[in-house]
Amino acid sequence: MSLSTKNILGAKDLNKQDIQQILDTAESFKEISTRSIKKVPTLRGKTIINLFFEPSTRTRTSFEIAGKRLSADVINISGSTSSTAKGENLIDTARNLEAMNPDILVVRHNCSGASALLTQFIKCPIINAGDGAHEHPSQALLDLLTIRSHKGDLQGLKVAIVGDIRHSRVARSNIKAMQTMGMQVRVVGPPPLIPVELERLGVEVSSDLSKSIKDVDVIMVLRIQHERQNQMFLSSLREYSNYFCLTAEILAQARKDVLIVHPGPVNRGIEISLDVMEGPHSLILNQVTNGVAIRMALFYLLLGENNANPN
Ligand code: CP
Repeated sequence: MSLSTKNILGAKDLNKQDIQQILDTAESFKEISTRSIKKVPTLRGKTIINLFFEPSTRTRTSFEIAGKRLSADVINISGSTSSTAKGENLIDTARNLEAMNPDILVVRHNCSGASALLTQFIKCPIINAGDGAHEHPSQALLDLLTIRSHKGDLQGLKVAIVGDIRHSRVARSNIKAMQTMGMQVRVVGPPPLIPVELERLGVEVSSDLSKSIKDVDVIMVLRIQHERQNQMFLSSLREYSNYFCLTAEILAQARKDVLIVHPGPVNRGIEISLDVMEGPHSLILNQVTNGVAIRMALFYLLLGENNANPN
């Protein structure tokens, strides 16, 4: 069974069967990363290019590790050290890279729609590794894998996504993917950081952190995305923290089995307190581990199972 899409541009393009298949495949790949020799020949002879125009620690490294664990050749290119610094545009850059016959292009860019634009010019599959404030589908998939690993089933779970929803591609991808999987999503934050259209999409909106986390299975905490704000949305970070930092005191009002996830990077003490971040409910590093398995699954499924022997 293959995915219904040739590219991974956004959670909006993935149906329930796609997401289930990606999560199941990722689950089966997890074990490879625990071996002493962490490599299988599945994608030997395939070439993957990671083209990153924005900073990244987790996404870029895990796409690279994922490709290498499947024996693909992986090439990393940063915007700042590519010929875009000499004036070449994104489309020409991608077309020149495609002329070297890669099998997949992974793209992170600060413009919403950058990956989708490239699909008009590039024949090989493209994975969107984050485009502006639009989507970050592989992050949503690894979040779902992490939640499913702990809860067993996603259907019917209640999630509160807390923070800067307006500027968050992680929130946007998660809301879509979670709704596709039958989860109930509530967003929590200061009203200026919550887009008005969300309520129309069936998302509950709240600005009361204590009240909104009481009955949820999962709390997803997001950082304030200063780099995407071109106007003042908050009077101060201290004020934001006073109302929206997830502290032990607030967490005490949540369910005993609540899970806490955060896509990273974390601003310690601003959106989450140190003790909660490192406490027993937190799955933050578990998410990072699962990021490798999800990206292995995406490469494997996009390049076609006939290429592959998962052992
Ligand atoms: N979660 C995430 O996208 O992290 P990076 O920016 O470090 O890749």
